Amino acid sequence: MSDSLWYQEAVFYELYIRAYADGNGDGHGDFRGAIAKLDHIQSLGVNCIWVMPMYPSPLKDDGYDVADYCNIHADYGTLADFKAFLDAAHARGLRVVTDMVMNHTSDQHPWFQAARQDKNSPYRDYYVWSDTGSEYADTRIIFLDTEPSNWTYDEAAGQYFWHRFYSNQPDLNYDNTAVHDEMMAIIRFWLDMGIDGFRADAVPYLYEREGTNCENLPETHQFLQKVRQLIDEEYPDRVLIAEANQWPQDLLPYFGTPQHPEFHVCFHFPIMPRLYMALKKGDKTPIVDILNQTPPIPQGTQWMTFLRNHDELTLEMVTAEEREWMWQQYAPEPRMRLNMGIRRRQIPLLDHDQRKWFLLNALFLSLPGTPIIYYGDEIGMGDDIWLPDRHGCRTPMQWNAGKNAGFSLADETYLPLNADYEQVNVAAQERDPDSYLNMTRFLIQTRQSQTALRRGEMAWVETENTAVLAFRRHVNGKDGVLCVFNLSDQPQPFTLHRERVNMLAPSQPMLNGTLTLAPYEACWFQN
Ligand code: GLC
Repeated sequence: MSDSLWYQEAVFYELYIRAYADGNGDGHGDFRGAIAKLDHIQSLGVNCIWVMPMYPSPLKDDGYDVADYCNIHADYGTLADFKAFLDAAHARGLRVVTDMVMNHTSDQHPWFQAARQDKNSPYRDYYVWSDTGSEYADTRIIFLDTEPSNWTYDEAAGQYFWHRFYSNQPDLNYDNTAVHDEMMAIIRFWLDMGIDGFRADAVPYLYEREGTNCENLPETHQFLQKVRQLIDEEYPDRVLIAEANQWPQDLLPYFGTPQHPEFHVCFHFPIMPRLYMALKKGDKTPIVDILNQTPPIPQGTQWMTFLRNHDELTLEMVTAEEREWMWQQYAPEPRMRLNMGIRRRQIPLLDHDQRKWFLLNALFLSLPGTPIIYYGDEIGMGDDIWLPDRHGCRTPMQWNAGKNAGFSLADETYLPLNADYEQVNVAAQERDPDSYLNMTRFLIQTRQSQTALRRGEMAWVETENTAVLAFRRHVNGKDGVLCVFNLSDQPQPFTLHRERVNMLAPSQPMLNGTLTLAPYEACWFQN
């Protein structure tokens, strides 16, 4: 893997520190606990860990409400524990990126406390205030289920403050360059400690301008370019990853231009729901359409692809009609829905059907982009729709069939364990060669063994059958892998024009001519 472009060919793992392993028996996961589980992460064949927010926080939004940017939440350990985790990961050849929440702070942050109490405080102007709460009326509300407005009146301040997320997460005011300076200092603090980069949270929303929807504004891009400049000048081998939940054409500017680069990597939000849509319909059209609409990206950049993460499976990047259809198909009960999405994990969405799981994961791991796997999905962990907000997909990691699934020795854990842990856990799956865990390892290892799958171009292969998706990944026309997926629950024909080995069924003989693909079969044919 060429070093400065490591992120283009890596596989990532999303780690929720609170959920992973409790090292001190208080019912919350922590960095000491996670250190002991790095062997598991390494065994998956991933290259980089994204650690969700680990900062001091009242945890009203699971740490995305930051109260102190340069410290560690007491439940998760100390700065020394974090450093030990970072060193232990690096010793295993694993990189670590952390979450950078730039758009807003917690209302408990000392900046906001000072701002609301004193109109003349220098911190007042760190936030966005209004006497009427009527500005920027064209801006959508993101947390639709809980927030009636993007403005909330603060009694102490005697004014309204602006917030794109929960009303306990006031937005920072990027028109104030003091805020820029603060962010740059925070970025340097973590990069100096040795982290490998950031997943930058909620970046489209940094600036507000009347008469716009206050997303993707030119000023926002200018600030993000300043961040990138700092990285390029001072920390050239680190990565910046954008969480910008936008349509492909609005995403492109987040990569920047050769003169003004921005992010190395952007999450590809629109592809994700279409993978589930295509599978349910047994029709490749949604996948083909969105990839055909996805513009080429600048050299040295990459998409990040995912099947699930810590949030609801967002349906913001589909049409209203498609959203309705997805809800009916995948979230028939109101409890399964949240805001504009579906708050369920991967395996219940796939009806616990191992064939669908294998197909979807093989597809996701062969698309262009850097894939990221959400903790627990490697064992097909279930969810708990009775928990509020997104908590049902953030329950403790299931290590074994013992007390609290081996997550914690405490009598009470931060969230209850899923009911399925006695069957679904790492220890049980280690012993089973056909388990989700071992299939995840096999798929990642096979993908990483192929240059074409790591960084090849993609070219469609015509199948004249909407149920069969086929494409070739290749490097300059060479070293190709032919990827074929039967999205339907019926057998389908597919013709090979020469002898090939299916890397996903290595015990099968060479194949040639017209094959019958089994329902939900996935094949990666070697050159
Ligand atoms: C991002 C995070 C989400 C959080 C929100 C506000 O979308 O993924 O979990 O609630 O930002 O910070």
